[in-house]
Amino acid sequence: MKPFSFVLPKVDKADQGKEKIIVTYKGKTRELVTHDYPEIYKIPGLYENLFYDTLDCQSPKVVCGLLGDALSQTDDAPDKLVALDVGAGNGMVGEELLEIGAQKVLGVDIIPEAAEAAERDRPGVYDAYYVEDLTELPEKVEDEITCEGPNCLSIVAALGFDDIPPDAFATGYNLISDDGWIAFNIKDEFLQKNHPSGFASLIDRMVDEDIMDIIDKKRYQHRLCLDGTPLNYYAVVGKKQADISDRMLREFQ
Ligand SMILES: C[S@@+](CC[C@H](N)C(=O)[O-])C[C@H]1O[C@@H](n2cnc3c(N)ncnc32)[C@H](O)[C@@H]1O
Repeated sequence: MKPFSFVLPKVDKADQGKEKIIVTYKGKTRELVTHDYPEIYKIPGLYENLFYDTLDCQSPKVVCGLLGDALSQTDDAPDKLVALDVGAGNGMVGEELLEIGAQKVLGVDIIPEAAEAAERDRPGVYDAYYVEDLTELPEKVEDEITCEGPNCLSIVAALGFDDIPPDAFATGYNLISDDGWIAFNIKDEFLQKNHPSGFASLIDRMVDEDIMDIIDKKRYQHRLCLDGTPLNYYAVVGKKQADISDRMLREFQ
């Protein structure tokens, strides 16, 4: 038996991330919104039940599946992957990375509730889990991460909105070794030319300036919005060719 229940009030129109849910847990009923991750992670099983079972989220499987397929077309062995999973949440992506054979997964998330939920729900998935904001990574943590020699960056369901901005993506990217694998997803409209999020310009520049090769990209349904609208994303798998320069990084801060 689930220790919680929730009701999704019927609405004609809902904004992604601001969708309201009424949750009852330990005798208390209150209203949350779908991007209130600290409160959602605190309730065991709510994140999976809400996003995956109810709103049909597919992203960890789709993104890691695309990475696994791309790897299988090369001589790179999955068991050599040391992945840095950014916006790791309660560990669903870490688990998928282990499923495709990764040797080691390091997690980073900005909120302590995510680290606590990952330890509670998926103990042992992450070799290390850092509670840090990627836009302000302390040098000590950066050194610890680079010492592990990460050669894969995963960022799933965490780019844009109020989550990870372009400069934080760039910071994560530069922590990965040259020739490392990059696997992420992003809302389709964020990749439209000159989208105000800055991601389209950053990624176009990275490709044009041979900083990243795109190996595979596919559009798919990330999840449903509470009003039933499909939320379509791109899953992207690439290979790092070079660091993003400080000059370029500054343009996206
Ligand atoms: C929708 S959750 C995705 C969790 C997981 N990747 C998944 O697919 O289930 C987005 C996560 O990004 C984290 N996040 C947001 N901004 C961040 C930042 N600047 N640095 C690190 N993590 C961040 C949030 O705390 C949240 O746990």
